[in-house]
Amino acid sequence: MDFVPSKFVKVVNQNNYYQVHSDNEVILRVYFLSDDIVRIRYATDGHFDEDFSYAISSKFTGTPTVSMNDTPEILIFKTSTLIVNINKTDLKIIFTDLNGQIICRDEKGFHWEEHQKYGGNIIKMSKVVQEGEHFYGMGDKTMHLNLRGRRVTNWAMDTYGFKKEEDPIYKAIPFYTAIHNQKAYGIFFDNTFKSYFDFGSERRFVTSFWAEGGEMNYYFINGPELLDVTRRYTHLTGTPELPPLWALGYQQSKWSYYPESKVMDIAQKMREHKIPCDVIYLDIDYMDGFRCFTWDKEKFPDPKAMVANLKAMGFKTVVIIDPGIKIDEEYPVFKEALENNYFCRRADGPHMKGKVWPGECYFPDFTNPKVRKWWSGLFEDLIGNIGINGVWNDMNEPALFEIDGKTFPDDVRHDYDGNPCSHRKAHNVYGTQMARATYKGVKKYNHGQRPMVITRSAYAGAQRYASAWTGDNIASWEHLWIATMQCQRLAISGFSFVGTDVGGFIDHPTPELYTRWVQLATFQPFFRTHSSGDHGEQEPWSFGEDALQIVRKYIELRYQLLPYIYTTFYQYVSEYTPMLKPISVYDQTDSDTLYRVDEFLLGDHLLVCPVLEPNAKSRYVYLPKGNWYQFWTGQKMEGGKEVLAEAPLDQMPVYVREGAVIPMFPKMQYVGEHLVDQMTLNTYFGASSMNSYLYEDAGDGYEYEKGIYNLKRFKTQSSETSFRLSLKRSGHYEPTYSTYKIVIHGLPFAPSSILVNEKEVITANVYSENHKLVIVVERSTFISLEIFK
Ligand code: GLC
Repeated sequence: MDFVPSKFVKVVNQNNYYQVHSDNEVILRVYFLSDDIVRIRYATDGHFDEDFSYAISSKFTGTPTVSMNDTPEILIFKTSTLIVNINKTDLKIIFTDLNGQIICRDEKGFHWEEHQKYGGNIIKMSKVVQEGEHFYGMGDKTMHLNLRGRRVTNWAMDTYGFKKEEDPIYKAIPFYTAIHNQKAYGIFFDNTFKSYFDFGSERRFVTSFWAEGGEMNYYFINGPELLDVTRRYTHLTGTPELPPLWALGYQQSKWSYYPESKVMDIAQKMREHKIPCDVIYLDIDYMDGFRCFTWDKEKFPDPKAMVANLKAMGFKTVVIIDPGIKIDEEYPVFKEALENNYFCRRADGPHMKGKVWPGECYFPDFTNPKVRKWWSGLFEDLIGNIGINGVWNDMNEPALFEIDGKTFPDDVRHDYDGNPCSHRKAHNVYGTQMARATYKGVKKYNHGQRPMVITRSAYAGAQRYASAWTGDNIASWEHLWIATMQCQRLAISGFSFVGTDVGGFIDHPTPELYTRWVQLATFQPFFRTHSSGDHGEQEPWSFGEDALQIVRKYIELRYQLLPYIYTTFYQYVSEYTPMLKPISVYDQTDSDTLYRVDEFLLGDHLLVCPVLEPNAKSRYVYLPKGNWYQFWTGQKMEGGKEVLAEAPLDQMPVYVREGAVIPMFPKMQYVGEHLVDQMTLNTYFGASSMNSYLYEDAGDGYEYEKGIYNLKRFKTQSSETSFRLSLKRSGHYEPTYSTYKIVIHGLPFAPSSILVNEKEVITANVYSENHKLVIVVERSTFISLEIFK
């Protein structure tokens, strides 16, 4: 039987919230975190547990301005953008804009039932689906981006070879965005128990969410832009620090490259085949019997020397670390954790024992701050001494072999940072807390360089500590589609630094599939080929000469685009902007975008349209409104309609927004191979006015925190008879390049006069390249370029 709040008794204005009491002892707390973020909590028996969240970032700040109007029938809260109405007969809530237009309204609203299995309550919420409402978000779900009519579960699961529509998989991010009538909003249900969301599936006009325990504790995030909803959520749950630039380069992995000679051979071949690459990964076989923080001395007799040799060739080395610690009295990591009581225990006392790669293992309780500190310390030798550059956290759902449910039993106990609880509550955050401890450790011993951590499992907020990949996918065309969905979906769920196992982890891709996958991943934030050992070779040269050439071209392009991608990362970190934007987020005013899922924007200006079918020679692309340049041909096209784009195997359709400036590096084999001596500014004529940005710094280390970085704004202004590019710069970083090579795409007139910094230019620095006007200018003095008909 469901219970609901009864009538209003009183409201009390507390320090940072309003507390509303009902006749049947329900307490509703309303917190205004900013004018656009409202937190709602309910207690059913007059008592709230300690207020604690792993998701919310300590860096979040907001300055709400709220007024309350206590009328006879409704409690009305008003901010500068939002009205929250609480009905006094049943405490139901309606969020409206300042004109009283409904954004989101309770159906049954908050209700609960007693938990048959565990006691306590199952807490639930239901809202009315508005006319024409669409839903997005929810982390790594494998279905169509638009969630209307779907039902999903949040419970982190090891799902080897997952399928389209399979749910849940590795991550649990209980956050969705919604839009109707040009009003977007989001709901973040910060409850770590297994939770469920229904978007008009069971009942067509009801959205509901509920959890198998814990508190009804959610954040309503106002828009009206979808982009702002995502940004506000990302501000709330945090962003990572800037990664080292090399972490945005191409990375090569396999389960597993061993012994050392094989690793060196792969590295050598990368350079021989001129495939740019920054990172080589070591999967579990580098360890001694899969014991974390050890080395197999036969396969890798001198890891420190190997890492140094790789470094000399321009490679970073990243190693895998799993949570399962082998039960072995001779193994120091095991002994230390055992002696200090760091391992998880069953409710009745014995250790949580489970099988993973090393056989029977115990598992550290990463929700205990003491355990996290100890874990961080374990990286001293690996990072500080051997010189490993990054760590890959796997199996942290946590995953187990040979057990029902593939994870810990529900009764396992966790510290939960001083809020002891069972695995039912801690399960979804286990992986995040492991990644957090790893991040701290890598950072601590990394000689002042920036850490690189990758995680498979995640709860909301995990993006603060790690990048992520999407787990054990399959070399199939369907999975290429899923890869496109998942990365967009994760990006709008606050997690931008994501990628997939390029080519597929399971099975072997055809040359065509591998090529198409590399093309897609060139434009996704985390770019790594990884595959399982028993399915064949998956290096860029394993697919024949034709594929090799195309793959090389795209990976080269990835490196050329690094200034643009790094700037996009900076915008994510500092402005909370998702690095990938579904086209619905790019232009929500165009209803044509709301169902389209197989194209997206990377950063401000690049529209990426992956080819997701075999034997394709072309594909349909919906060009959002505005004018676009086809990236490869330079052809200018009008948007707001669908076009048939040429897509021979060496060409994935990519478009650049008119007016854009895309900063590009010269080709390179790895970050830091040579000093960059020129920055190319690909500049696209059109748009009366358009801003583009370039963020630059040393690419590693922390000098940027002392202001040693530049933020440059390029503004273009185009008219029938003139073109102007101007630069506004702030910051103190001295780049290595001394010139900008400005390439003007699509200039529709022959110039009669060209001015740089308001002075007529010397003709030697002006030339034509592939029918485009090129002007080379001094970097240090450049302020403006004007071209007149
Ligand atoms: C898991 C990971 C995969 C890794 C393998 C062996 O399946 O998802 O990436 O290669 O374990 O460590």
